[in-house]
This record gives sequence, C-alpha cells and structure tokens, in this order.
Amino acid sequence: MSQLFTSVQNNSVSIPVWLDDLIFSQLSAVYEPQYKDFVVLEWTKTEIQKYLGTYFPRSFAESLCIFSKYFSERHEEYKDISELSLFDFGCGTGGEIVGFILAVSQKIPHIKTINVYAVDGNRYALIDLERVLASTASETCVDINTNIIPLKIDDFYDMEILDNLITKKFDFIISFKAISEFVTKQQFNTLNPYEYFLNAFLPKLSDVGTICVADVSSFNQISKEWLPIMMDNAVTSCGKADMIDRNIDFNECYYISHSKKANDVSNIFWRILKTKASQPIKKDSSSDVKKDEWEELCKQMLSFFDENDHDSSKDKKLRLASLIEAQRQHPNNLKAVLEALLEKDEWKTAKNHKPKKIFHQMHKTFSPSEQGTFF
Ligand SMILES: C[S@@+](CC[C@H](N)C(=O)[O-])C[C@H]1O[C@@H](n2cnc3c(N)ncnc32)[C@H](O)[C@@H]1O
Repeated sequence: MSQLFTSVQNNSVSIPVWLDDLIFSQLSAVYEPQYKDFVVLEWTKTEIQKYLGTYFPRSFAESLCIFSKYFSERHEEYKDISELSLFDFGCGTGGEIVGFILAVSQKIPHIKTINVYAVDGNRYALIDLERVLASTASETCVDINTNIIPLKIDDFYDMEILDNLITKKFDFIISFKAISEFVTKQQFNTLNPYEYFLNAFLPKLSDVGTICVADVSSFNQISKEWLPIMMDNAVTSCGKADMIDRNIDFNECYYISHSKKANDVSNIFWRILKTKASQPIKKDSSSDVKKDEWEELCKQMLSFFDENDHDSSKDKKLRLASLIEAQRQHPNNLKAVLEALLEKDEWKTAKNHKPKKIFHQMHKTFSPSEQGTFF
C-alpha cells in the first residue's frame, strides 16, 4: 500500500502519493485556478479536469483538516459505532468525501464501513467521483458503499424529488462549496439557499447526526451579501440547529501541496451543526452554562421536575416556584441554582424524603460530567 495518510499541521496538507497519481496521471487532471466566480454545474469534461486538478485537492485538504479536528475532539461519541453514513450535497468530484474518509481512518479507525450517498448535477464530475471512491476504498481499510445520485436541482420541485429519494437518516450531511452556486443562480428564488438546505436536511440527521457546510467566503454579487453572513442568518432563522464548531475569524486559510503546486492556498468558511435536541449542553466552567444554552437547560430542568415530583400538595407548587425563582436569580449558573434550592424549606427535607431524592436526581442529571456535558 502506498502512503495513505498525510499529516495535518497548521492547516497544511500534502496530498497522498496514490491520490496525486490517481488524479493527475490516471484522470488527466489539470492545475489551473480561475480568478473569477464560476458555476461548475454546466462545466464540460475538459473544464472538470481543471476542477479535479485545482479544486479537488483543496476540498480534500479542507475536509481532512476539519474532520480530523472534529474526530479528535469527539471520538468518544463514536466509540460504540462501527459504521457511518454520509450524504454529500453538490459532491462534484468528491475531494471532501475522500478527506472525510481519511479523517475517519486516522482518528476513529474502528469504523469499518462508510455508506456514501452523493448528489450532483454534473455527470462528468460524477464519473470522476466513481473512480476516486473506488481507489479510496482499495487504499483504506474501510468498506465504502457508494450511492451516486445524478440530479440537477433547478427548483423546489427537484428538491422534493431528492427528498423522496432520500428516505434514510445520515450520521453526516455535508456540502462543500455547492450552496454558493445556488445563491448565484437564485435557484430558490429569493430564499436564502443555506436556510433552505438546513430546513430540508436537518430532519434527515440520525441521533448522532452532524451537518457540515463549507463554502467560499466571498461577497456574492447576486445576493449582495457576504456568504458566511448568509449562512449565519440561515442558522438563526431556521432556529433548529446549534452551531457546535466553526472556522476561526471570518474565513480560514488552508495550504495544499501536490505534484503540480506547492502550498496552494484556499480560503473558506465552515460551520458544524447539530439539531438542537441531540446537542449536549456544555458548561464553560464548573458552575457556568453558556448563555445561549441556559434557556434550554432551564426548560429541561422544569420538565424533569414536573415528571418526577408527583406530590399533589401545595408543597410541589412551592418547590416549582422556588426553582423558577432560583433560575431567574442566578442566570447561567447551575451550581448557584442548586445551592439556592437547598436553602429553601420546601426543598429542605429529611434525606430519604421525596423532594430530597428529586433534588439529588436533578443534580446528577444536570450537573456537568467530567467531559463537561450534562447528559
Ligand atoms: C464548486 S463545485 C464543488 C464540488 C465539491 N463539493 C467540492 O468541494 O469539490 C459545486 C458543485 O455543485 C454542483 N451543483 C451546483 N448547482 C447544482 C444544482 N442546481 N443541481 C445539482 N448540482 C449542482 C455542481 O455541479 C458542482 O459539482
């Protein structure tokens, strides 16, 4: 087996020899950057060869860096899982899929199977993608089940077709530099395509599911808006996702080396999201809860209380009132809320008495664990 892995340091990546050989020698890729905005959807075979030689290595490197970091920080979540599913929206030649697979192989090597579903409207790109994934499967110890969906999405109706085709739930849904093309072509009329994407695909995430959107960080001449700002507006107005990681600063730089170019530079923004329900609440310190998560935590504590305190006397009402009051008086500070309850007569009862038990259960459920999560 030729050199499979490549080191990821300071966002700098050299593409592995086997991949370099595949794209430049076997698939006749050409390194030729474009210095203006472009839409790849309609590109010809010759143009896709330029895409493969220039932008495939960039997407490969960006995805490898993003997911290496992600899996380094969250490998615990995947410790009992042996198979992953990945859906790529606007996959093109699939550089980001190979980056993802190599990050999995390096960081969570017990994963033996990845089921890949990839949709794109450019058939030349998809022909290359098939070859790329077949080689990736033979170079890694991962079984890759490839499901390619050739579909050109012109409007909402085509999105519905895609929706009906995809009945599965996915562990990862990714889109690299594709949604910007929907912005440029105003495919969803005046709707923000990032929001449309989130609303369509968040329901398709599995329980541990994660969405990763990466895109060019440029100012779009059609929407008259910076794309990272459009993305952040989409997250806010969709309201169903929490951002669990993102690039540093406005955009992040990656450096890619291969046989045709040393230290080629790419600039992107990226966001990693989970649906609100599946997102564990994190603490900032032993007592603090992040401000944007406080409200959700309070709601969870109240419903926990309601489900567990079956007392029908007025004491229950008193306990509920003091819980609400303590949350109000000590915002973002769970430890202080619990301490305040212990001062209240209605919560201060003999150890084996029901309210004390509820208090202990609540403490156990909502207090941060060693890893800093509540659940
Ligand atoms: C800039 S390329 C990115 C490809 C790949 N994700 C990467 O990072 O290398 C954008 C991709 O989105 C696809 N795409 C854009 N608009 C599309 C549409 N309306 N329907 C289907 N595919 C589309 C293009 O065919 C192209 O392959």
